[in-house]
Amino acid sequence: MSKTYYFDANATTRVASEVFEAMLPFLTERWGNPSSAYTFGNQVAKQVEEARAKAAALLNADPREIVFTSCGTEGINSAIHSALMTNPDKRHVVTTAVEHSATMKFCEHLQKRGYAVTFLPVESDGSLDLHLLEKSIRPDTAIVSVMWANNETGVIFPIEEIGAICSSREVLCHTDAVQTPGKLKIDVHNLGVGFLSLSGHKFHSPKGIGLLYVRRRTRFEPYLIGGHQERDRRGGTENVPYIIGLGRAAELAMEHLDEENTRIRALRDRLEDTVLKTIPGTSRNGAKEARLPNTSNIAFDSVEAEAILMLLDQVGICASSGSACTTGSLDPSHVLVAMGLSPDRARGSVRFSLGIDNTDEEVDYLLKQLPLIVAKLRTVSPASPLEVKGTSRRATASTPGPTRHEARKLRREAA
Ligand SMILES: Cc1ncc(COP(=O)(O)O)c(C=O)c1O
Repeated sequence: MSKTYYFDANATTRVASEVFEAMLPFLTERWGNPSSAYTFGNQVAKQVEEARAKAAALLNADPREIVFTSCGTEGINSAIHSALMTNPDKRHVVTTAVEHSATMKFCEHLQKRGYAVTFLPVESDGSLDLHLLEKSIRPDTAIVSVMWANNETGVIFPIEEIGAICSSREVLCHTDAVQTPGKLKIDVHNLGVGFLSLSGHKFHSPKGIGLLYVRRRTRFEPYLIGGHQERDRRGGTENVPYIIGLGRAAELAMEHLDEENTRIRALRDRLEDTVLKTIPGTSRNGAKEARLPNTSNIAFDSVEAEAILMLLDQVGICASSGSACTTGSLDPSHVLVAMGLSPDRARGSVRFSLGIDNTDEEVDYLLKQLPLIVAKLRTVSPASPLEVKGTSRRATASTPGPTRHEARKLRREAA
């Protein structure tokens, strides 16, 4: 297989070999049910508790505050659901216009069932007006659910301050922290949130496992009702191998924190600075500073992101426009539109998200391919007055790029 140049770590990450090795015995020899009364089951239960302690350490939480889930979406849905069920007289939710679809769609679903939801707007750099957030809290607000770091732009919201506002107003706060492990230091004691959701596959454990932090003494109504697993907070036999994997991945995420904030940040900055400097008609989407160290979202004037992505794919490079969960949608990214970008600029925006496996050579390769691709596409775009420095329109005029619709069709066929 030819080499894959992976710049889509916010979509998912490789299962780390350490994680795979930790999981393997629980798929082969140690397959007992942790709820069984005999030793073969008890021993597995002990390992599940060890993994819980490791996951708790990532958050500086108490292991009893960790509920294993199947994914980030489940954690997010469960937190909001629990707040509404335990406060039946409160039927209002505050969230933002830039959340992941796991929150957006769940809130839209609630609206259809008669709940009120406030979707807070954001500024042009993706930041949130905290004064507005505070004003939007009403006597009937059951929960404020605000993501910590945006998956598309990397923009970070000040969750400590948001948690403090919610505490002072005695309203529950949930944060979707899915994009933070290994990138930001997480300490629930500083955050002031009642709930926090994570997803294992964003930090090198497999897809299909996540966790919900539930602060002690927070009333909780389970979303999955069944057995007594997870201290009665989530019915269903535990996904033991994946829980073990998540525990190991939590340890690795803590180890990766420094490298993400030094080497990976430097790689991301080199990539972004070079693109902005050498490719005309490009601009960054989202704040420069209050941002994850690995994420860069760049608008390319007069080109469709879908076409760029298709040509990048042809040379082995993986990147994305928007969230992987909305791929295939014809609408421009709701995050970028909420930041005030025109639909055209939003449709010309590409997200590059780096991870611990990326190297200098991979960034060099991307920086070699990207200007050629953008120039090629602009050559055939009648709207484009732009060229890339050092590239010739004439040289590429015979290789027209695809339209957005053609690009989507080709991508679907290739998938
Ligand atoms: C910010 C954010 N929240 C929630 C999710 C959903 O996580 P999962 O795919 O594990 O349900 C994602 C996944 O892309 C995400 O990036």
